[in-house]
Amino acid sequence: MNKLDEAEKYIKANKERLNKQYRLEYHLMGEYGWINDPNGFIQYKGKYHLFYQHYPFDAVWGPMHWGHAISEDLIKWHYAPLALAPDEEYDKDGCFSGSAIEKDDKLYLVYTGNIHTGADGGEYKQVQNLAYSEDGVHFKKYDKNPVIGQEQIPERASKRDFRDPKVFKKGQYYYVVLGSNDGMGNGQVLLYRSLDLKQWEFVNILAKGDETMGYNWECPDLFELDGKGVLIVSAQHMKARGNDFNNPNSVIYFIGDLDIEKGVFQLGDCHAVDYGFDFYAPQTTLDKLGRRLIVAWMDMWEMPMPTQERGHNWAGAMTLPREIVRVGDRLYFKPIEEIKNYRKNHYHLRNIKINGEKYLDTISECYELEIEFDAGEAREFGVKVRKGKEEETILCYSRDESLFIFNRDKSGIGPKGERKTNIALKNNKLKLRIFVDRCSVEVFINDGEKTMTGRIYPGKESLNISVFSKGECSITRLDKWDIA
Ligand code: FRU
Repeated sequence: MNKLDEAEKYIKANKERLNKQYRLEYHLMGEYGWINDPNGFIQYKGKYHLFYQHYPFDAVWGPMHWGHAISEDLIKWHYAPLALAPDEEYDKDGCFSGSAIEKDDKLYLVYTGNIHTGADGGEYKQVQNLAYSEDGVHFKKYDKNPVIGQEQIPERASKRDFRDPKVFKKGQYYYVVLGSNDGMGNGQVLLYRSLDLKQWEFVNILAKGDETMGYNWECPDLFELDGKGVLIVSAQHMKARGNDFNNPNSVIYFIGDLDIEKGVFQLGDCHAVDYGFDFYAPQTTLDKLGRRLIVAWMDMWEMPMPTQERGHNWAGAMTLPREIVRVGDRLYFKPIEEIKNYRKNHYHLRNIKINGEKYLDTISECYELEIEFDAGEAREFGVKVRKGKEEETILCYSRDESLFIFNRDKSGIGPKGERKTNIALKNNKLKLRIFVDRCSVEVFINDGEKTMTGRIYPGKESLNISVFSKGECSITRLDKWDIA
């Protein structure tokens, strides 16, 4: 049996062994086993396709396959057969991350082949490959892979870390940006171009970070938004700067001027894409509605993942897809509109004053909360979700420090800690949109000015929601819907 069929068969035979306790209601997960990065995000022949790094045989990272899911609306996903398995010389130790593009009605995948060069996997090399499909479901690898080989890596670029092609078209050329480093501790992005997706030429080192911005850049993404260039990279071991970049790895963006012909991107300031705990290796796509959509792996390397143990048999999930909007020299991230179609059981409050803690008389596991606070005289105010006898996840604004804080110290069995980010009140008001699923929280602050994403693993009984303040404040509006 070939490797794809073997993996597919294994999933079907073992699916029943999933423990459903933390299986998410409205976020994409793998069908069984492990997933990480989103790959090949595209709208093709009217449907959204999202592939992902996948090891179907266990809830741990292993030789990477590409899982595949298809959706009409980016919320409800249907599993398609696995798209790629590591079954060729040029990808024998993993079909690593990559992206998708449509050409002549076909769906092309450009992905990294990982090849171990030593016995223990510590030494490796990476090349770029092509696969294509006529129906968007069954893929064939190109018979002349790799399409970008080791010999096409320029000097001043790592020979090991050479991965995660993001493909796009501009003018007559197809381009890929590739994650790399300069071998001296700085992440960088390489740019290649092609007329046919098969023969590629190196253009330039498009952009390079400094020693504070991670020793290697993974999963680069490059696009234009309202006339400006945007570069997003996943930076390994980026150094913390005050409240920012406190996770083992960080996703950063730069807005700047792009000269694609020369292959030069003048980096502006660097900002975090998300200020929470669990957001990595995002990928964007432009859909037919003209939206620049982004989705990320809602986990973090080097952090514990509770569903790897206790017979859960799965690990890894995607964030809610978000729309990126440029506001001057910043990006805002908004939940996609489609999620509103899944709102059920509306609960609301209008113009109430709080001073202390007030429980909402509604409980839920999977829901959306939209709250507008008028800070009044309060020094601190916020909301607690997935609250039980001993558990709670705190989302709180501190007036004195102008900080929004996501605290998961008492969230349940997962990793703990808090993340903080600076944000100003507007007319003394704070607006939150919060999405809670069985083991995740995503907060959109002030219409997407900042987002904070984190996984939490509360007990089944922790279903309460409360609002609180130190000093009097008011809630002008609070709306809650179950999402189902
Ligand atoms: C990022 C990453 C990519 C790589 C993939 C392997 O999370 O390390 O650079 O292609 O995961 O699964």
